[in-house]
Amino acid sequence: MRQDLAAHIARNSQPIAEVLGVEFGKVTDVLEIGSGSGQHATLFATAFPQLQWQTSDLDENHSAINAWIAREQLPNVLPPLSLDVMTAKLPANSYDAVFSANTAHIMPIAAVEQMFAVVSTVLRAGGVFFLYGPFRQDLEFNAESNARFHETLQARDRGMGIRDLEKLEGFATVLALDRLRCYAMPANNLSLLWLKRDGSVV
Ligand SMILES: C[S@@+](CC[C@H](N)C(=O)[O-])C[C@H]1O[C@@H](n2cnc3c(N)ncnc32)[C@H](O)[C@@H]1O
Repeated sequence: MRQDLAAHIARNSQPIAEVLGVEFGKVTDVLEIGSGSGQHATLFATAFPQLQWQTSDLDENHSAINAWIAREQLPNVLPPLSLDVMTAKLPANSYDAVFSANTAHIMPIAAVEQMFAVVSTVLRAGGVFFLYGPFRQDLEFNAESNARFHETLQARDRGMGIRDLEKLEGFATVLALDRLRCYAMPANNLSLLWLKRDGSVV
């Protein structure tokens, strides 16, 4: 295993790659929201050379993402777009897939709702939204560790916290995003997928 990766990326990248191998078979253009360090982008662009991976994040993370891209020298990873979901102005229907990992519990809930709006705007009909992280279902945490993580997040910032799947479903449905699949992942995380409906009603 590579020693230069963040610990959580080293743990989750292979299981995520296995899901992407199944779900991104027909995908070419990917927009990542909240690329963070850029490590997922370069790992998945290496694993799936047919993908054109567009990184994005708040400006404060761009130097880290650019450094990782420069180091890996990949032809299919694009430098980060300046994308704050709260203020994004984006072209319609530009991507086959949107990927985002570990963002929904960091953003305030209004930003999570706005992320779904951005996703629906930029996805082509038939495109997929992949969202990875810890989530709550039926108002229940799926592990004690996630309940504690939620408390830690809330202590750090009241606007952060593990999100309810039902709340996300509510955001998705009115934005022409239909739930496609849910994968149980290691460490009590989930990979959630939504499909952009044909004949958008957005
Ligand atoms: C916990 S980090 C996850 C980074 C990376 N995806 C990963 O899994 O390591 C959360 C990311 O969400 C981004 N983020 C927070 N608020 C955002 C917003 N309003 N718009 C876009 N990205 C945002 C942060 O800048 C950060 O990169």
